Amino acid sequence: MAKWFSSGFLHLLLVVAVLLLLVPSSEGKGSSSINATDTLRASRPLSGDRRLISRRGKFALGFFQPQAQGSTGKWYVGIWYNKISVQTVVWVANREKPISDPASSSFTISDDGNIILLHSKSIVWSSNSTKAAFGSTVAVLLDTGNLVVRHKSNTSNVLWQSFDDITDTWLPGNKLSLNKVTGVSNRMVSWKNHGDPAPGMFTVEMDPDGSNQYILLWNSSQVYWASGNWTGTSFPNMPELSPANTYPNTPYTYGFVNNSQEIYFTYNVTDDRVLSRNVISVSGQSQSSVWVETAQAWVIYFSQPKANCDVYGLCGAYSKCSGSGLSSSCSCLKGFSESDPNSWNLGDQTAGCRRNVPLQCSRKDLVKGKQDRFYTITSVKLPHKAQSIQATSIQNCQTACLDNCSCSAYSYNGTCSLWYAELLNLQDTVDGSVDVIYIRVAASELPDSRTKKWWIFGIIIGGLAILGSGVITLYFLCRKRQINGIHLAEGSVITFKYSDLQFLTKNFSEILGAGAFGSVFKGVLPDTTTMAVKKLEGLRQGEKQFRAEVSTIGTIHHINLIRLLGFCSEGTKRLLVYEYMPNGSLDYHLFGGSSLSLSWNTRYQIATGVARGLTYLHEECRDCIIHCDIKPQNILLDASLIPKVADFGMAKLLGRDFSRVLTSMRGTIGYLAPEWISGEAITTKADVFSYGMMLFEIISGKRNTLHGGTSADKFFPLVVARELAEGGVHKLLDSEVIIDVHLGELERICKVACWCVQDSENSRPTMGEIVQILEGLVDVEMPPTPRYLQVLAEGVKSSQVSSLG
Ligand SMILES: *[C@@H]1O[C@H](CO)[C@@H](O)[C@H](O)[C@H]1NC(C)=O
Ligand SMILES: *[C@@H]1O[C@H](CO)[C@@H](O)[C@H](O)[C@H]1NC(C)=O
Ligand SMILES: *[C@@H]1O[C@H](CO)[C@@H](O)[C@H](O)[C@H]1NC(C)=O
Ligand SMILES: *[C@@H]1O[C@H](CO)[C@@H](O)[C@H](O)[C@H]1NC(C)=O
Ligand SMILES: *[C@@H]1O[C@H](CO)[C@@H](O)[C@H](O)[C@H]1NC(C)=O
Ligand SMILES: *[C@@H]1O[C@H](CO)[C@@H](O)[C@H](O)[C@H]1NC(C)=O
Ligand SMILES: *[C@@H]1O[C@H](CO)[C@@H](O)[C@H](O)[C@H]1NC(C)=O
Ligand SMILES: *[C@@H]1O[C@H](CO)[C@@H](O)[C@H](O)[C@H]1NC(C)=O
Ligand SMILES: *[C@@H]1O[C@H](CO)[C@@H](O)[C@H](O)[C@H]1NC(C)=O
Repeated sequence: MAKWFSSGFLHLLLVVAVLLLLVPSSEGKGSSSINATDTLRASRPLSGDRRLISRRGKFALGFFQPQAQGSTGKWYVGIWYNKISVQTVVWVANREKPISDPASSSFTISDDGNIILLHSKSIVWSSNSTKAAFGSTVAVLLDTGNLVVRHKSNTSNVLWQSFDDITDTWLPGNKLSLNKVTGVSNRMVSWKNHGDPAPGMFTVEMDPDGSNQYILLWNSSQVYWASGNWTGTSFPNMPELSPANTYPNTPYTYGFVNNSQEIYFTYNVTDDRVLSRNVISVSGQSQSSVWVETAQAWVIYFSQPKANCDVYGLCGAYSKCSGSGLSSSCSCLKGFSESDPNSWNLGDQTAGCRRNVPLQCSRKDLVKGKQDRFYTITSVKLPHKAQSIQATSIQNCQTACLDNCSCSAYSYNGTCSLWYAELLNLQDTVDGSVDVIYIRVAASELPDSRTKKWWIFGIIIGGLAILGSGVITLYFLCRKRQINGIHLAEGSVITFKYSDLQFLTKNFSEILGAGAFGSVFKGVLPDTTTMAVKKLEGLRQGEKQFRAEVSTIGTIHHINLIRLLGFCSEGTKRLLVYEYMPNGSLDYHLFGGSSLSLSWNTRYQIATGVARGLTYLHEECRDCIIHCDIKPQNILLDASLIPKVADFGMAKLLGRDFSRVLTSMRGTIGYLAPEWISGEAITTKADVFSYGMMLFEIISGKRNTLHGGTSADKFFPLVVARELAEGGVHKLLDSEVIIDVHLGELERICKVACWCVQDSENSRPTMGEIVQILEGLVDVEMPPTPRYLQVLAEGVKSSQVSSLG
């Protein structure tokens, strides 16, 4: 991304130099230097590399290409942040009509005061303002990111502004509005995919039904999230934004206005250094994020709906959504394949999947044994829009489905539910639902064990299988030689072919988990080494940059850091190959269904090990790496329960938004240090904070949750702080989870945890110091109560009460 910026900038300088030589004084007196003007005039259209730069340099306007695969040769006119390394477009003019060549196009003001985009003399896009222009007009790019067309000398006479034509980004100072007079809604519409700014499936708008809330819509028709009516200070479904709950020193103010002209919601950022934006993402979430210079990434601090899988139609038809929170992934149901694989890889799965084999449908002229069949999917959240009918048994229910050609699935729990046409919103459950659905496919999609004839086929297939396995073994041996050959280059990362990985993971059949950046699959090398293959999704990084980042990460070796073994970069496909951790992630052992409960000694060793791994990242690598996402899900355990930190370096590697939310579940306080939100510089101490929050969970074996009905002082980190102050950490032993504790260690680790979550970065220890303390080499003083946590805990608590009442 840095490359994109600097080469563009070099071009700009070059063009400027040339212009300075050729056109010594084409601008009138008083105008700023032509290299960095913020004003577009009819006499000087934008073309090629020429740009407008807002007065203080915050935003730029010009021709750009989306930085995603598959979008080369498509140019758009847009506004983006001028000073950051990640291309972040906030407005697009010709979002549906890309042009092929900026050099033969021009962006200018026409006589009637409209701004137009011309390509080979024909109008591709126009601002279509109906307001009459009088006198001469200019267009000015403001430091708010707004392009304003106004009278040359009267700045308050505005004909048109880009703020009234939101693309997918709602910037501070702009209004999400509904004009009561004209009925026009200034709404956000998602990009189609990461490489295509054309309008996608998801919209955010003020509720047109006249209530004072805003809503998220799928295909302009289906509401899937609503803010709830404005209470005067906040929206009920966004308790995080209520003034009582916002972080200390928050730079944000929110406002809601209902007058005779319009109804709108707006927000401001009071600290001018903070870059903040709200976007309807390609995957249908309304996300607020802030630019974090040290991480070189956008950090999402707020997102709705909280679970990505709750976005209506996210995975399209005949596809299943898995994952929780912001991590989700879509996969086609058995018997179906992706309708639009290209869009799918660019982050837009809304086109869903289609049948591999058409249904037989009619029961009358059935070829025997060819009747459509059903297979079972268990533990799902059932799709939307079922029709219920009376049926006395599951057989009758099945027959009813078979009787109608457009019936694609059924479910039976005493009532028979049938689904006609496309199945939408099928989800893997996270809350242990036991619902079962039967999916209808053509008979040829499922093996049959009932009819006798199949025995013959069985024998034939068996024979083929033996033959096939011979071939496979041969293939395997070849591959083995090939892969072993690559293995000899010890110490560096292996470049895998996609087909190799497909083979080694048995065509991605065994899923280990769905993480924030895509799904992880189990694979086995010919020498029986097991590996974890991560299929990355929604990439925005070019191949060269990807390879560069991968090789940097590949050189990082430490016993407490997960080892990157290799990668694959082919076409639009990006995969990472890691060492396999048989004991999974720490959250599973702390809160999940793990049968093996961690002893105190193991927990202490895990805490120390993670601290050692982070010390290496922070202090001992060539380039200091801030992890940015320390949480139990990212700590993996090997066969002997040695902890390994996973997912470091991902923000730069993927060149995309980095997700973090204040509360991932109601009442759960996350791992986010206050400086993420206040817009201060992020240092390694942000990791120290997250590590501290995780230590509390390692100590208690429970999430840092505020349960309904309990008061904020039952919040475990605050309990620890209080008991420490009162000299009674032994009282923590009352908790059933803490067993076989070493009291001295308990006191030490509690103190460390409290020091880690201090408000001020300077008060927090470094990871290196933490290791020394945990090893008992250095003593630690009594920590003060973390004030920020107290404020936050009370805030979350009061919002729970108010949303219940
Ligand atoms: C524009 O040109 C002036 C000199 O004419 C130079 O001082 C300034 O740095 C240039 N600005 C940019 C953004 O290149
Ligand atoms: C402008 O108006 C014309 C005619 O009414 C229409 O065809 C065109 O799509 C409009 N363009 C935009 C950008 O709204
Ligand atoms: C500037 O334009 C505004 C809005 O059209 C108008 O009310 C105002 O009188 C104008 N001011 C001058 C000095 O022309
Ligand atoms: C929101 O307000 C509208 C009208 O003002 C009302 O009809 C609706 O019931 C309210 N919704 C809720 C959830 O209170
Ligand atoms: C907006 O204000 C008008 C009167 O000014 C009132 O009738 C209407 O109910 C209000 N709408 C909402 C959604 O509060
Ligand atoms: C979206 O809505 C349009 C028009 O309302 C309809 O034609 C189209 O089929 C819908 N798309 C999907 C995927 O349902
Ligand atoms: C945002 O700032 C503008 C201009 O300073 C001001 O008019 C508006 O009231 C502010 N809105 C909020 C919600 O703070
Ligand atoms: C199949 O079911 C749909 C939806 O209930 C109905 O509209 C259609 O008429 C049915 N077709 C037949 C052949 O029964
Ligand atoms: C059966 O399923 C239907 C539709 O999902 C649901 O409304 C109903 O409550 C369920 N009944 C039982 C007994 O679980």
